[in-house]
Amino acid sequence: MATNKGIKLVDLDEDGVDRAFRADVLAGLAQAQKAIPARWLYDDAGSQLFEDITQVPEYYPTRCETEILSSRGAEFADAIGPGRAVVEFGSGSSVKTPLLLEAIEPGAYVPLDIAGDFLRKSAAELSAKFPGLPVYPVEADFNRRVELPAEVAEMPKLGFFPGSTIGNMVPRTAVDLLRSMRETLGEGALLLIGMDLIKDRSVLEAAYDDAGGVTAAFNLNLLSRINRELEGTIPVEQFRHEARWNDTFARVEMHAVAQQDIAFTVAGKDFAMRKGETIHTENSHKFDARSANTLLLAGHWTPRARWTDQEDRFSVILAEATIAKAAP
Ligand code: AVJ
Repeated sequence: MATNKGIKLVDLDEDGVDRAFRADVLAGLAQAQKAIPARWLYDDAGSQLFEDITQVPEYYPTRCETEILSSRGAEFADAIGPGRAVVEFGSGSSVKTPLLLEAIEPGAYVPLDIAGDFLRKSAAELSAKFPGLPVYPVEADFNRRVELPAEVAEMPKLGFFPGSTIGNMVPRTAVDLLRSMRETLGEGALLLIGMDLIKDRSVLEAAYDDAGGVTAAFNLNLLSRINRELEGTIPVEQFRHEARWNDTFARVEMHAVAQQDIAFTVAGKDFAMRKGETIHTENSHKFDARSANTLLLAGHWTPRARWTDQEDRFSVILAEATIAKAAP
């Protein structure tokens, strides 16, 4: 399996430190509102903690999306048709992808992921489950247009982006990603995308601050990761996890809140925080039907169908690659 266009996806320095991680952390901690990109939450420990989050009672998105994918198979088959190459952005959880593949008679499955090991593992699991299905994993950063394998060039495409992962991006970045997906998949493509819904603040905040403390551990693991990988001295036990609904931007924010005035170093640089000051570690944007459609349209996708779970907590939207034409 070739790296797409030979671009280096992880760049380590002579000490084995991920340069992009160090650059993001040092830049993020130097800001007035300290902030670290959410993608760094997912080291091995963080990925395991996220799996654990999907099992806590307060975290409804995974259960609701799985309910939609398992109960609407016949409607997906109708709307999508057979023979498409399913291109999954972020190689899939072992649960959701089979639900889609079982429903629609795909022509091929193309998982895209930046993490080669995880990609190969999930591709192998999928192949074992669907013996007749051609699987072509591609190691790539899908924030840019990706060259798909020649074997699927002639097949119509279905992009699959579950989990409301799009919600982790601010609208500007989400639109860039949707446009890249449109470029990767081409004319005539469809996109099946999960988007979490706006609901009562108490439900949202509980989903991101479960009573068992799993989300807190997930959030604070980022600080431990910084200490482990970037020679940090952050006093992790002096921080508290917080989930905050930001109504202006329609998103749940995760913060790590300093409980005291503190000082620490990371990669040889000094930082200080006052009591109550926070490091912003994640955004999880929520949508209603119209805001979801607007985002998709801005990303050059035309919404065609929409499904929600029984309790109207989560949505799965089918959109079609917008044909470029002059405005009316
Ligand atoms: C994996 C991005 C969908 O935003 O709901 C869960 C990550 N963060 N609890 C989300 C997450 C805190 C999750 N996504």
